[in-house]
Amino acid sequence: MKMASTRITSSVYIIVLLYVSAGVVVESGIGVNWGTLSAHRLSPETVVNLLKENKIGKVKLFDADPTSLRALMGSGIEVMVGIPNEMLALFSTSTSASDLWVSQNVSRYMGKGGANIKYVAVGNEPFLTSYSGQFQSYVVPAMINIQQSLAKANLAGTVKLVVPCNADAYVSNVPSQGAFRPELTQIMTQLVTFLNTNGSPFVVNIYPFLSLYQNTDFPQDYAFFEGSTHPLMDGPNVYYNAFDGNFDTLISALSKLGFPQMPIVIGEIGWPTDGAVSANITAAKAFNQGLVKNVLSNKGTPLRPGVGPMDVYLFSLLDEGAKSVLPGNFERHWGIFSFDGQAKYSLNLGNGLLRNAKEVEYLPSRWCVANPTRDLSTVANHFKLACSYADCTTLNYGGSCNGIGEKGNISYAFNSYYQLQKQNPRSCEFDGLGMVTFLDPSVGDCRFLVGVTDSNKSLGFCLNIGKRFILALIIFWSFCLFVM
Ligand SMILES: *[C@@H]1O[C@H](CO)[C@@H](O)[C@H](O)[C@H]1NC(C)=O
Ligand SMILES: *[C@@H]1O[C@H](CO)[C@@H](O)[C@H](O)[C@H]1NC(C)=O
Ligand SMILES: *[C@@H]1O[C@H](CO)[C@@H](O)[C@H](O)[C@H]1NC(C)=O
Ligand SMILES: *[C@@H]1O[C@H](CO)[C@@H](O)[C@H](O)[C@H]1NC(C)=O
Repeated sequence: MKMASTRITSSVYIIVLLYVSAGVVVESGIGVNWGTLSAHRLSPETVVNLLKENKIGKVKLFDADPTSLRALMGSGIEVMVGIPNEMLALFSTSTSASDLWVSQNVSRYMGKGGANIKYVAVGNEPFLTSYSGQFQSYVVPAMINIQQSLAKANLAGTVKLVVPCNADAYVSNVPSQGAFRPELTQIMTQLVTFLNTNGSPFVVNIYPFLSLYQNTDFPQDYAFFEGSTHPLMDGPNVYYNAFDGNFDTLISALSKLGFPQMPIVIGEIGWPTDGAVSANITAAKAFNQGLVKNVLSNKGTPLRPGVGPMDVYLFSLLDEGAKSVLPGNFERHWGIFSFDGQAKYSLNLGNGLLRNAKEVEYLPSRWCVANPTRDLSTVANHFKLACSYADCTTLNYGGSCNGIGEKGNISYAFNSYYQLQKQNPRSCEFDGLGMVTFLDPSVGDCRFLVGVTDSNKSLGFCLNIGKRFILALIIFWSFCLFVM
């Protein structure tokens, strides 16, 4: 009881402090992942306004994109920046490279009026089974070097290092038997010891959707939070949802290494809305709302009652139409908002229902469709090519555009390609089979998109001004040389 009241007092204090210092109300530990693998990117300023408007006080990035970080400056929003797996080998051997990364990608954004960078993610799921161990030996050495670079920059107290792990790092049939994969035991021991020494949490990504998608025997209701007719019995403990079961499996694995109290952050969790039968709006809303309720209630799990995870980052903020579809056609549809910042369903993150992005700049209301007067028997190659560049995943089985007919399919593919090409008229030719229309061809839930305008207009503007300024300087200087 004493512990609980200290916790409440200190969290109230932290909330008040954040409110006063940053002007952002952080009422919950709910954050979002902001990925940028999209051909139709909102400007970073629009995205940051969307976060503010929805009082989302924490954001996780997958890299250290300068435009995103600049837009986050002064917002008070807590930021996790990421080091891609491909860079770990370099940082594991070179302290000068890690020094440079910290100065270019962390230090320069910090300070008064800067970005509120709280975490650096060293790699992203580097122990994923499908990587066959190619990154795993670099993780701890890279962390040690980055930590030293942070210390040199006087940031070791402010910025914490973490390693977001996929839940496939540990295995078990029941939560109480959880353990890290045997080949990871030594690395995990070093990693968790390091985290513990530096006051960092363990970050894990948990995906009940994938459990359901990959395993037809997985009890449907166990993926959600409304109770289950197939609860998991584990000695005296009963689990009614996959999230709690997975969380406690991790706690068991950490306990086996001697760290039963290690704080846990959920780095990614969510539910996609398109591209597969179980990926739909109803399921995504039920899952995410159930998750948020579960987390905000602080009811905890059987192995950690009364304490939720420290923070939870939803996957994801926006749809990303340029992601690889290797995991499945749903992969481009994880957003709680569509690519253009429109809420897909009503969801309450603890601050009222989601609010749409404002001042989104669309291309003109124009679409490219199959010309109805043409014989389309020769269209197959155009269709394939268009869909190899643009996103056509909603056409597949279980997708929102599956069932719009053959002609509908072709129009959809043509339009996706046309929007990808920013409505360049030549991108709607398709040897005379395409045609621009001003009538929205969307049918039912199947939306034919209109792209958003170039995301870095403002940056381009600055670059332009910069270029002109330099040009003027050169002219002026040559002039001076000439007259002298
Ligand atoms: C900073 O991060 C960006 C984006 O991840 C990366 O491209 C760049 O190489 C990094 N800078 C250094 C010095 O490593
Ligand atoms: C949506 O997904 C849920 C969860 O997998 C599934 O039970 C349901 O049948 C799906 N709904 C539709 C309309 O496909
Ligand atoms: C439309 O395209 C999808 C994806 O390629 C395919 O599964 C479906 O059968 C097509 N529909 C028709 C009527 O051709
Ligand atoms: C933003 O601008 C840069 C340089 O002008 C360009 O390389 C990049 O592709 C642009 N990004 C997007 C999303 O348009």
